[in-house]
Amino acid sequence: MGETGIRLDLTGQTAIVTGASSGIGAGIARLFGRAGANVVINYRSSEDGARETLRAIEDAGGTGRIVQADVSQEGDVKRLFEEACDAFGTVHVLIANAGLQRDAPAHEMSLADWKTVLDVNLTGQFLCAREAIRLFRARGPVPEVCPALGKIVCISSVHQFIPWSGRVNYAASKGGLLLMMQSLAQEYAGEKIRINAIAPGAIKTAINRSSWDDPAEREKLLDLIPYGRIGESEDVARAALWLASDASDYVTGETLVVDGGMALYPGFREGG
Ligand SMILES: NC(=O)c1ccc[n+]([C@@H]2O[C@H](COP(=O)([O-])OP(=O)(O)OC[C@H]3O[C@@H](n4cnc5c(N)ncnc54)[C@H](OP(=O)(O)O)[C@@H]3O)[C@@H](O)[C@H]2O)c1
Repeated sequence: MGETGIRLDLTGQTAIVTGASSGIGAGIARLFGRAGANVVINYRSSEDGARETLRAIEDAGGTGRIVQADVSQEGDVKRLFEEACDAFGTVHVLIANAGLQRDAPAHEMSLADWKTVLDVNLTGQFLCAREAIRLFRARGPVPEVCPALGKIVCISSVHQFIPWSGRVNYAASKGGLLLMMQSLAQEYAGEKIRINAIAPGAIKTAINRSSWDDPAEREKLLDLIPYGRIGESEDVARAALWLASDASDYVTGETLVVDGGMALYPGFREGG
């Protein structure tokens, strides 16, 4: 703890980051490694991506462990936490980040694509949050490490409140996440478990490559972003570090929007 009483590092703490083999999760894992955390790098299928994240953390002097697990599978999630505890003793922070899209006009959307997105983006985050809460409660407080019993950050999206045509499954999963996060935060604040969310806007990752790779699509996207640039994973990672650190100790049930102003109705910039 510095003179100001603000600790923006995670020294001595262990963080699980789901979906850390790519994009935002990889960015968070790398920054948390630099901030002193033991980082559990979860992935589902991109082992090479997970190895790259681990290498970056170790090259910067940090510590990590890779655990393959599908967050939509209850048994996998239990194993993810068990392996994290085997490696580092306990877990202080969960970053529930793993997510995907399966876009289609609603009238053509298959039930399988609806279910896959809900299973990973919403049920997957519930399963991880439930396991983290169970672990925090079973372990009890460790005030010399952090004032909260545990911390959870759900990576949501501006589409938890902005409707998104052609992606009803994704928008429904993120809208559900908002009330899941707030309900859990309300339920466990009395036990000092802090649960918050980040709603990123457009961040340059594999999930939305088609909207920033192509120059015409990129221009259309930039029109929606008052700040004038597409976000980077690091932009989200810095917000996640604040929410996971003790600097945000009195914050729970909140969504931090990290979107360069995308949610500020940019269509009204010229007076509507
Ligand atoms: N990029 C954006 O503009 C944006 C905006 C708002 C919100 N978000 C949210 O940010 C999160 C990360 O997205 P991203 O943009 O970084 O996408 P990304 O680059 O495609 O990364 C997605 C990550 O999720 C993992 N994943 C997918 N399904 C999984 C499962 N069942 N179990 C475990 N891991 C799984 C992937 O692992 P494998 O590749 O190993 O399978 C990958 O590491 C998502 O929740 C997304 O909705 C992104």
